[in-house]
Amino acid sequence: MSGSVGGSARLLRDAVRDAVRTLSEAGVESAEFDAIALAACAGKTTTGDVRKLMIMGAPVPGGFDDLVCERARRVPLQHLTGKAGFRRLELSVGPGVFVPRFETELTAGLAIAFLQTGADQAEVHQTGVDQTGADQAEVHQTGVDQTGVDQTNAAKPRDGAQESGSNLGTVRSAVPRFEGENPTPSLGLRDWTRSCGTPVVVDLCAGSGAIALAVKDEVPSAEVHGVELSELAFAWAIRNRDDLGLDVDLRLGDATLAFPELEAGVDVVVSNPPYIPVGSIPNDPEVRDHDPEVALYGGSLDGLRIPLAVAARAAALLRPGGFFVMEHADAQGESLTSALRMTGVWQDVRDHADLNGRPRAVTAVRAR
Ligand SMILES: C[S@@+](CC[C@H](N)C(=O)[O-])C[C@H]1O[C@@H](n2cnc3c(N)ncnc32)[C@H](O)[C@@H]1O
Repeated sequence: MSGSVGGSARLLRDAVRDAVRTLSEAGVESAEFDAIALAACAGKTTTGDVRKLMIMGAPVPGGFDDLVCERARRVPLQHLTGKAGFRRLELSVGPGVFVPRFETELTAGLAIAFLQTGADQAEVHQTGVDQTGADQAEVHQTGVDQTGVDQTNAAKPRDGAQESGSNLGTVRSAVPRFEGENPTPSLGLRDWTRSCGTPVVVDLCAGSGAIALAVKDEVPSAEVHGVELSELAFAWAIRNRDDLGLDVDLRLGDATLAFPELEAGVDVVVSNPPYIPVGSIPNDPEVRDHDPEVALYGGSLDGLRIPLAVAARAAALLRPGGFFVMEHADAQGESLTSALRMTGVWQDVRDHADLNGRPRAVTAVRAR
C-alpha cells in the first residue's frame, strides 16, 4: 500500500483520479490511460483488473505514486512499464531504443498485407497521391487510436497499447499492381509460396525489432532478416526476438550496406528509418529527451538523406517486382514519392495515410 488517509488505506480509485489530474497538468494527453497503465504496472496486474479493483475499493499499490511522478516528468510510459505493444506483440523497451509507434503498425501492416492477402483483395488506406494515374483507393482502417502525432516521429503511444498488445485489426493495404515478372496483380502468400517458395523479407533499421518480429509473427512462413546500427537498440531487438521465440535473423550493422548476400533476391523490404529533418526539435519531451538521436534524425535538412539511402539499398536487395514499404513524416509524402520516382528504379510509387488522413508510408515496386 502506498499512503493512508487518517489511518485508512488510500483507495486506488482516488489515487488514479489524482494521477489523471497530475498527468493532465503535466501535458500528458493520454492521462487516464497512462494512470491506469501505471497502476497495473505497480500492482503487477492488468489494466482490466485495475478498473475492477477501482470499483471494488482496493488500496493503491506501492510504487504507484513514484511512477506517476516520473510520468509527470514526461518519462515515456513505455520506459516506466518496460513494455510497448506493437500489433500482436508486447515488446520490451527502455533507454537506448526507439519506442515503437502506433503509426508504424501501418507500415508493418502494409508489408504483412502484401504477403498475406495479395493486391486486389486489399482495401486500401491511401491518400490518393498516386501521381502515376493509378486507381485511387478508399481508406479503411479500424480499431485504433492515434494521438499526438506531429511532423516528426513524435507520435504518442496509442491508447490501449498496453491493454491489447495490440494490432491494427483489419488494416489491409494498398498493394500495387505488379508489372514485369509478376503477371498476377494479387500474389497472396498461398500463391506466392506455391510459385516462388518462402518469401524473403528484410527490415532495414530494425530498432527494437518491432517490424521484423511482427512480420514473422503474422507471416510465419516468411524468412525474415533485420539490421540495426545502434548496439543498444540491437540488444533490445535480440532480447525481444529471444523472449518471443521468433526465428528472425538480426544483425548489427549499417542498413545502407546490409545483406550483400541477399541482393536482388528479396521479396519485401520494409523500413522505418530516422526521418526527422536535422535542426527540428520534436515537441514532445518523451521523444526529445528519451528517443535516441540516431533513431530520429534523417541526416539532412529535409530529413530524407538516410531514408533515400535506405531506399537505394532496398532497390539493390529487392528482386524485380519486389515490394518496398517505408514510413516517413507527414510532411514528406510528396517529396519522398517524387524522389523515389526520379530514381527510375521504382514503379507504382504510392503514398498511404494514417487514421487522421496524414501521409505516413510509401510503397513502391522494384522495376525490372
Ligand atoms: C525510427 S527508428 C525505428 C525502429 C523500429 N524499426 C521501429 O519502427 O520501431 C530508426 C532506427 O534506425 C536505426 N538506424 C539509424 N541509422 C541506421 C543505419 N544507417 N543502419 C541501420 N539502422 C539505423 C536507429 O538506431 C533506430 O533504431
